[in-house]
Amino acid sequence: MLLCGCWRRCVAMSFRLLFLLPAGLPVHSQGESQSDNKQMDNITVRQGETVFLSCSQGDSVTRTAWLNRSSILYAGEDKWSVDPRVSLVGLNQDEFTIKIEDVDLMDEGQYICAVQTLSRPRTTSVHVIVQVPPKIVNLSKDLLVNEGSNVTLMCLANGKPEPVIMWRMLSPSDDSLSSDTEVLEIPFITRQRAGTYECSAANDIAVDVQMVELTVNYPPSVSEGRDVGMTLGQRGVLLCEADAVPQADIEWYRDDRRIFNDLDGIEIQDAGAISKLTFFNVSETDYGNYTCVAINKLGSANTSIVLYGPGAVQDGNSGTSTVFTSTYLLLILLLQLLLKF
Ligand SMILES: *[C@@H]1O[C@H](CO)[C@@H](O)[C@H](O)[C@H]1NC(C)=O
Ligand SMILES: *[C@@H]1O[C@H](CO)[C@@H](O)[C@H](O)[C@H]1NC(C)=O
Ligand SMILES: *[C@@H]1O[C@H](CO)[C@@H](O)[C@H](O)[C@H]1NC(C)=O
Ligand SMILES: *[C@@H]1O[C@H](CO)[C@@H](O)[C@H](O)[C@H]1NC(C)=O
Ligand SMILES: *[C@@H]1O[C@H](CO)[C@@H](O)[C@H](O)[C@H]1NC(C)=O
Ligand SMILES: *[C@@H]1O[C@H](CO)[C@@H](O)[C@H](O)[C@H]1NC(C)=O
Ligand SMILES: *[C@@H]1O[C@H](CO)[C@@H](O)[C@H](O)[C@H]1NC(C)=O
Repeated sequence: MLLCGCWRRCVAMSFRLLFLLPAGLPVHSQGESQSDNKQMDNITVRQGETVFLSCSQGDSVTRTAWLNRSSILYAGEDKWSVDPRVSLVGLNQDEFTIKIEDVDLMDEGQYICAVQTLSRPRTTSVHVIVQVPPKIVNLSKDLLVNEGSNVTLMCLANGKPEPVIMWRMLSPSDDSLSSDTEVLEIPFITRQRAGTYECSAANDIAVDVQMVELTVNYPPSVSEGRDVGMTLGQRGVLLCEADAVPQADIEWYRDDRRIFNDLDGIEIQDAGAISKLTFFNVSETDYGNYTCVAINKLGSANTSIVLYGPGAVQDGNSGTSTVFTSTYLLLILLLQLLLKF
């Protein structure tokens, strides 16, 4: 096991190997007081970039080496590492510099520069910290749900330091729908909460942003039909508007009979959520009760429109209720009169 409790011992071991010191001889580096160990400031480098490791030398240096943990990368100008990303930058009286290209997470850790002088060995260690920009690795797919479903959006990201995940509703923008967790839960989703959601994963070095499209299906509703009066020979239009996702198919009926396009001078035109029933030349026989039925896979809705002529008296519920109300009022008046006596 190379799990040394103290890396200095590893270095001492490596040194002994490197310089083939007889084991019996006193090893300077084992005596804390006699060796000179320095800790340099941490070096922070982004994944994929190059890191330079440099340590100072001196006049009396006899041997020197750069180590990654306990394995030698360079012993003087001799490369011991088999890693092609590691190379020598320069070795002279003043300094010994190597570089590691295309740094990866595995390269994070302690690097040690060991220097053997005539008097005593010394080591300089530096901690290389590798940062990784955030990357969203697991994101919910675009979703198609029915109104009332419980929706869970998920966003998992990698990165170093650990990225902070944020969910928000992007369009239509809704600040009440945000979350700073990997999971955004929307219970009993309503049609208003359909739209584009954004997940962002951010750390000190970068942000990764991804979108999820959330579609909420709901059954049609049609706006209440208003009765329409048209004079003979006129061109007339009946409108029906349906709100539904997915968009509703609209059918027109005259009483119980389905009306088809281009029949008897009638045309049906569908434009998105609106259907237009056009009479090119209103005739006596066109007057009547028309029903528009909007259908999608979740259900249907309908409304009726009465097309009446100029002389027609609108009958129906409103008339009845007026009569009823009048009778009621009359009764109350009579009662009050009676009570006075
Ligand atoms: C260097 O990094 C190590 C490991 O992450 C940490 O424990 C130490 O506090 C850092 N030192 C400095 C001076 O930032
Ligand atoms: C440093 O050592 C670690 C652990 O053995 C290894 O995974 C990494 O590739 C090494 N890096 C370099 C630049 O030698
Ligand atoms: C993404 O997360 C889901 C739920 O935790 C899991 O089932 C799925 O395997 C993950 N996919 C990937 C590529 O990690
Ligand atoms: C949605 O969640 C609520 C409470 O968490 C639960 O009572 C309900 O059954 C769930 N609905 C569906 C469709 O799963
Ligand atoms: C409308 O129909 C009536 C009766 O069929 C006809 O007399 C009239 O010319 C028509 N008007 C138009 C503009 O087509
Ligand atoms: C029109 O027809 C529909 C469906 O047949 C019916 O429900 C409605 O009461 C009718 N309206 C009138 C005013 O007759
Ligand atoms: C119209 O809607 C009512 C309920 O709102 C329903 O009872 C009726 O069957 C519907 N008519 C058609 C033609 O779909």
